[in-house]
Amino acid sequence: MEESGKLIFHKQIIALIILLFSHIINADDITVLTVATEDNHGLERFLRSAKVYGIEVEVLGRGEQWNGGDMNYAGGGQKVNLLKDKVNEMMKSENKDQLVLFTDSYDVMFLGNLEEIINKFKSFPDTRVLFSAEQFCWPDSKLASQYPKTEVANPYLNSGGFIGYLPELSEIVNYKTINDKDDDQLYYTKVYLDKIMRNSLKISLDHNAVIFQNLNGALSDVQLKINTTEEWPYIENVATKERPLIVHGNGPSKLTLNHLGNYLARSWSFATGCALCSEKKIKLNEDDLPNVMMAVFIEQATPFLEEFLQQLLDTDYPKSKIHLLLRNNVEYHETEVDEFYQAYSKKFASAKRIKPNDFISEAEARNIAKERCINSVCDYLFSIDSLSRVEPNTLRYLLSSGYDVVAPMLVRPGQAWSNFWGAINSAGFYARSSDYMDIVHKVIRGIWNVPFITNCYLAKVSTLRKPAQVLTYSKEELDPDMAFCLSLRNLGIHMHVSNELDFGHLVNPETYDISRTHPDVYQVLDNKIEWENRYLNENYSLNFAPDRKHLMPCPDVYWFPMMSKRFCVEWIEVMEAYGQWSDGSNRDNRLEGGYEAVPTRDIHMKQVGLDKQWLYILKEYVRPLQEMVFTGYYHNPPVSLMNFVVRYRPDEQPSLRPHHDSSTYTINLALNTPHVDYEGGGCRFIRYNCSVRDTKQGWLLMHPGRLTHYHEGLLVTEGTRYIMISFVDP
Ligand SMILES: *[C@@H]1O[C@H](CO)[C@@H](O)[C@H](O)[C@H]1NC(C)=O
Ligand SMILES: *[C@@H]1O[C@H](CO)[C@@H](O)[C@H](O)[C@H]1NC(C)=O
Ligand SMILES: *[C@@H]1O[C@H](CO)[C@@H](O)[C@H](O)[C@H]1NC(C)=O
Repeated sequence: MEESGKLIFHKQIIALIILLFSHIINADDITVLTVATEDNHGLERFLRSAKVYGIEVEVLGRGEQWNGGDMNYAGGGQKVNLLKDKVNEMMKSENKDQLVLFTDSYDVMFLGNLEEIINKFKSFPDTRVLFSAEQFCWPDSKLASQYPKTEVANPYLNSGGFIGYLPELSEIVNYKTINDKDDDQLYYTKVYLDKIMRNSLKISLDHNAVIFQNLNGALSDVQLKINTTEEWPYIENVATKERPLIVHGNGPSKLTLNHLGNYLARSWSFATGCALCSEKKIKLNEDDLPNVMMAVFIEQATPFLEEFLQQLLDTDYPKSKIHLLLRNNVEYHETEVDEFYQAYSKKFASAKRIKPNDFISEAEARNIAKERCINSVCDYLFSIDSLSRVEPNTLRYLLSSGYDVVAPMLVRPGQAWSNFWGAINSAGFYARSSDYMDIVHKVIRGIWNVPFITNCYLAKVSTLRKPAQVLTYSKEELDPDMAFCLSLRNLGIHMHVSNELDFGHLVNPETYDISRTHPDVYQVLDNKIEWENRYLNENYSLNFAPDRKHLMPCPDVYWFPMMSKRFCVEWIEVMEAYGQWSDGSNRDNRLEGGYEAVPTRDIHMKQVGLDKQWLYILKEYVRPLQEMVFTGYYHNPPVSLMNFVVRYRPDEQPSLRPHHDSSTYTINLALNTPHVDYEGGGCRFIRYNCSVRDTKQGWLLMHPGRLTHYHEGLLVTEGTRYIMISFVDP
């Protein structure tokens, strides 16, 4: 039959009009339905993705009691019943060509708009209803044999998403009665396996994930494309070469959806960065700031605890809005913590402490903090462990992020160790996500939905208001933080870590040895940031200023500010606590030959366990000074076998006879102060008849070793003089 040219013309016009108004027409043509009795983070994510693609969703059952069982097991018949009511009501009034798209919500996201979805649906041959498909025949695997024989990746029906015409869907939902507690997937599977139903209603399965991608079992097929020429990341099923429009984190793949959801539905892109980050931001009302419980946990001996306690005080937030809970479980720290508490607890809105001799386990202590927060005026729980070192603005940032559970990303400097996990393995332990290193190294920045956070995080109290046995830090054989995060995951509460800004880092307690005198001074290798802040001279970096005139008290003897007063005091105390000064004789078992030509009363770094640290100090802080003033000499790392503190005093050894050092250059760090700690002393360079007497605590003298700088230690007439000496590159 030939159509007239005129008719074809009319058809084209109509097609054009349909095209122009297709989004409006689609909106009229298709009803998008989901079931969600509970308002949770999964639903929020689902509705956001719908909004991104201009999809209006009707949520069925909102606020109703859920009778459909635990969704990790069989159940969900209530979804069918809610849909049945809706479909039956629609049948009374709606157009019979009406399309209905039904999806689950808590673990589903839209990845495209309705026009794309409808077009793809219409491309299925001879299909009036299309169900999503998966690899597992669930919940009754015995039914697998009843499926029509096919060689496809996803042979079995999944009920998390389907699309079809209203009359056929009506037949399907009215097929049989179903109890709320029965399984919805089993119900639809039986419809599909009923050959008469399947053929008469033209039911097909989306075997290739043309529209619906179920993630369970398909993780190796589904690739997240982030760095593409396209504007936004998407997923591709590399087995079927399809780009699905709806993704479903069915069964145990929920955490994978959480991961993908960080990028999909225009959440994040290289060009835009974190689109999600700004969507929820709250402007804090300064006149009515939220009440925060700052729950502080000192669970292990912690390097630089003093700085940590100071950081609590430095938090940029009114203390009248902070309820302090200070838990210390380390006897070693108790004096310091007690002093802090006595001095500052009254500044806070309220304060409570848990001491080592309260004999409360970590999990109990954390539960106490949570319950105390829930049962008081507190709006947020800010949990912070002593290993966390955060910027003063961190709390404010977290509060204004708009996220219910969010941690600032903290990483051990120079390591991949952080306060979150990007993924979790089937046993519930750490697994590395594909983006973990990029997040840790801040190659990408954003607020990331992750399965585990620890050490420092903010949680909105309304989110934590769950039965204490359900949301808990106590679970046998699990660390408290793991138990807590497991609870949150089981409750469908999303955790996030933010690296949108730089918030701080974690200190590393691994080598912290509290049997030492001043254990912090030993920490230069493991906690360099804190160590430098406390022990490096505040003017050390000025040595490298471009227009710096270096002090040279004698020819080729340079003089630099290097260590802090505190370093010098603690260094001396380490030596005196050790106490085994050499006897000043020529016999010295500490040396290879057992003989010292120019003996002093001294202690070698090896004896107090500081040799590695001192060599590192030479490499990191002394060598750059040397390279600057004795140009052209490079020796990295510097070698030094003789590193020791010398003690001069009138009743012991008051001076040292002229000698050459067995070194390329020698450094001499003054550990205390002339005219305060002792009288006399200093160093005289004989060739130049030049002495340095008024040495300065923490300042370093550096001079060539052999040949030119023959020198002597000048007489100490009163008190005790300490210097730290190294013969570098002997
Ligand atoms: C993104 O892809 C481009 C081109 O393939 C590449 O040069 C760039 O390094 C990639 N960026 C990242 C962060 O992977
Ligand atoms: C650092 O330099 C400033 C300015 O010269 C000085 O006032 C300050 O005392 C110096 N600090 C130390 C620890 O020497
Ligand atoms: C060395 O210097 C001192 C003063 O600084 C001076 O009294 C003395 O004569 C000098 N000795 C020689 C040998 O030049």
